Amino acid sequence: MREKSFMDAILHGVAPTNEQIAAYLNAFHHRKPGVTSAIMLGLRTTDGRTSYDVVADRIAVAQPDSVLDIGCGDGELLASIRTRTSRTALAGVDLSVEELALAAERFTGSAIDLRLASAGTLPFPDGAFAAVAAHLVFMLIPQVDTALREVHRVLAPGGTFAFLLPRRPKQATGLTELLTALSQKIVLRYPDFAPFAIGDRALFERFGIADLLGRAGFTALPTFDEFEVRAAVDGEWLWKAISGRYILGSLDDELTAELRALVVAAAANENFEYRESLRLVSVPR
Ligand SMILES: C[S@@+](CC[C@H](N)C(=O)[O-])C[C@H]1O[C@@H](n2cnc3c(N)ncnc32)[C@H](O)[C@@H]1O
Repeated sequence: MREKSFMDAILHGVAPTNEQIAAYLNAFHHRKPGVTSAIMLGLRTTDGRTSYDVVADRIAVAQPDSVLDIGCGDGELLASIRTRTSRTALAGVDLSVEELALAAERFTGSAIDLRLASAGTLPFPDGAFAAVAAHLVFMLIPQVDTALREVHRVLAPGGTFAFLLPRRPKQATGLTELLTALSQKIVLRYPDFAPFAIGDRALFERFGIADLLGRAGFTALPTFDEFEVRAAVDGEWLWKAISGRYILGSLDDELTAELRALVVAAAANENFEYRESLRLVSVPR
C-alpha cells in the first residue's frame, strides 16, 4: 500500500512528495531486504573487485578508528570494511527495519552500532567519526543538502567521506537500451509515465556533486573515481537484477510479466552484457 501512492504518482506523471518517496523506499526494502547486495555482489570491476570492495578500499587507506555507513542496508559495506580494518568501531544507519535486522544478524557477537535513523538527522554528536561511507544511497535522498551537512557535522576534522553513486554512461550499453525498452513498454500502458529521479539530479554530474559538497561545508575539492562493474548474465539473474530496481520492481503482475519477457529475450542475446557505470566520490573534512 505504501508503495502504491508513490507508484500512482510516477505512473501518472506527477512528481511524488518527499513523504511518498520515503514511504516507497521503506516499503520496497520491507518487501525485498538485502536486494541491493544480492545484485551488486554479482558484478565485478575489471580487476575483479565488487563495488563494496572499491568503497572499502578507499575507506581503509587511512585506517580510521571509527566509520559510519549511511543507508547501510544489510551491512555488506560494513562487512567489507571490517575485513580491512579489524580494530575500527563500526556504525550504520538505515530507514529500513528489515535491512537493519539483516545487518545485525551478520554481525552477531561483534560490537556494532546499528540505528534506525535518517541521513537527514544523524543521531551522533559532532565529529563522532573518522570516516563516513555510503554505497548507492545519496542519489535516493530528496533533501540531499541536509544529509550532506549532517555528514560534515559528524565527521571529525581530517576525516574522509567516501560515497558511491550511479553514473550515466557516455555511450549506450545493452543495459541502458534494455531500460529504455522497458520504459517504453510502461509508457504504452501509462502514457504520462515519467520516471522522476528519486533524489537530486545534481548528483549525476561531477560539477553538481562538487557544488553540493561545497555548500555542505566541505572546503577541499572532491576526487572522482569512475569505473564499471559488469557480469555475464542469464535470464534468471538479469530478471533478478531488473526487478530489484526501484519502480521496475513495483509494477502490477500483468506489466511485470511483459517486462520479464523483454528481459529474458535480452539475456538470450549472446552479445548482451550487464554493465553498471559508477562513481566513487571522496572528500576530506
Ligand atoms: C540501494 S539501497 C543500498 C543499501 C546498501 N548501502 C548497499 O549498497 O547494499 C539504499 C538503502 O538506503 C536506505 N535509505 C534510503 N534513504 C535513506 C535515508 N534518507 N536515510 C537512511 N537510509 C536511507 C534504504 O533503506 C536502503 O537500505
